Amino acid sequence: MATLRSAGRLPLAVTAAGAATLALLAPAAAADVRYEPGAPGMGDPYFPDLGNGGYDVTHYYIKTAYDPGTDELTGTTTVKATTTQNLSRFNLDFHKMNVRSVRVNGRAASFDRTGERELEITPPRGLRKHSAFTVTVRYDGVPQVLSGPVVFDLPYGFLPTRDGATVMSEPDGASTWFPSNDHPRDKALVTLETTVPHGLKAIGNGRLVRQWSAHGEDTFLWREDRPTATYLVTNSIGRFDVSTTTTPKGVPQLDAVDPEIASDPDALSTPRHTTRVTDELAGYFGDYPFTSTGSIVENDNVPPLNLENALETQTRPTYQSPPVERGVAHEIGHQWFGDSVSVRDWRDIWLNEGFAKWVEWYWAEKHGGQPAQLSFQQSYDNPPPIQPDRPPFWDLVIADPTRDQLFHRAIYFRGAMTLQALRHKIGDGPFLRLVRTWVDGKRYGNAGTGEFEALAEKVSGQDLDAFFKAWLHSPTKPTTW
Ligand code: TRP
Ligand code: ZN
Repeated sequence: MATLRSAGRLPLAVTAAGAATLALLAPAAAADVRYEPGAPGMGDPYFPDLGNGGYDVTHYYIKTAYDPGTDELTGTTTVKATTTQNLSRFNLDFHKMNVRSVRVNGRAASFDRTGERELEITPPRGLRKHSAFTVTVRYDGVPQVLSGPVVFDLPYGFLPTRDGATVMSEPDGASTWFPSNDHPRDKALVTLETTVPHGLKAIGNGRLVRQWSAHGEDTFLWREDRPTATYLVTNSIGRFDVSTTTTPKGVPQLDAVDPEIASDPDALSTPRHTTRVTDELAGYFGDYPFTSTGSIVENDNVPPLNLENALETQTRPTYQSPPVERGVAHEIGHQWFGDSVSVRDWRDIWLNEGFAKWVEWYWAEKHGGQPAQLSFQQSYDNPPPIQPDRPPFWDLVIADPTRDQLFHRAIYFRGAMTLQALRHKIGDGPFLRLVRTWVDGKRYGNAGTGEFEALAEKVSGQDLDAFFKAWLHSPTKPTTW
């Protein structure tokens, strides 16, 4: 830049010659640039191969067609990203599906399967640092359902339901159905276009932009316009009664309920609870972080599935069976704690589940139920039972529970107890100020336990080292704090 500006003082002919020389030099200089492969992981100690290095995703355009007869998913996912280094090649996380083709910036790229869920992509030319690029992956297959100790020993990921499929991916299931940078540290906007046989619907995150019919099939186009972690993306397919409204505070709401349970009292009241919880929690914690709310209510707590979990899929939690009001408070609570403010590493999970469980307690307190302090006391005196093959309740280190205990009950209950004990210690006013500052300062981002501790000390003006050591960092029941 400086060279060109001083060249402007020279006679015109020389300037032109100088410019020509520069132009000649530029390609030679470019050839000297070193391009290196992006890392195959994000550096999360619990999941070393989740996420990738070398780029940041800005937008996923996920196009799928689903056949409930065969469970086959046909997809084209376009990933729009920006490089963070000079890239010779890079990875996407993608599990098992048959990859038909990969294009980078519109040109065919070579690809390879280098691990359980690693799709290694080599574009025809290196990608310069700080440049935008697009990757389009065409694929098909039956998404592999995950299961194991991490999530209650239950199936998760892209799940067949009684009349279609639903998606509940936390923590590492997103890459079973779309190629992604599958770690909450790389959030992106999401556009989902799903085609299903006529009579079925597809429900995604955010707002329904358009829907249309052609050749006996229906297509639904959804867009989520706030940064979304990959595990919070949904694509729920089946028969649904869809209703829409706007909350009194102005948040557009869409609820999709399996018609088989439409008259179940809990299913009937889920939209109403969702409206109330969305607006009321905004009064406590600060504005609702997203531009829509709602629910997806399935009917899977009956044979052969017998599932009754829920996941805080962004803007629109997914319930495997009709939730009670407390369940809605938990999942909508996650929209602040987990979805907007997300873990930096998966070991920070208590910041999601401890908060969501505490929101249940707080909700009860605000609605004529027992005070949260009593819920604290009951859990302290009588912690919930733990399966024999899991560590006993007080043995878990909440801030670093190990991968297989991410959703251990102590994460929920001792996490919530930590927050309630903190509220008790620093006082209601400072505690709510802490929570509001937390969700405001970290909105759409990531944060870890250390940052929460630091903010708590700052807002309260107290030294909380011993407190957090006892509650979050010690595998024993706190007695003094
Ligand atoms: N986050 C869920 C909750 O609200 C629990 C959960 C984690 C989950 N992974 C899941 C539920 C996968 C269904 C499927 O507590
Ligand atoms: Zn939860």
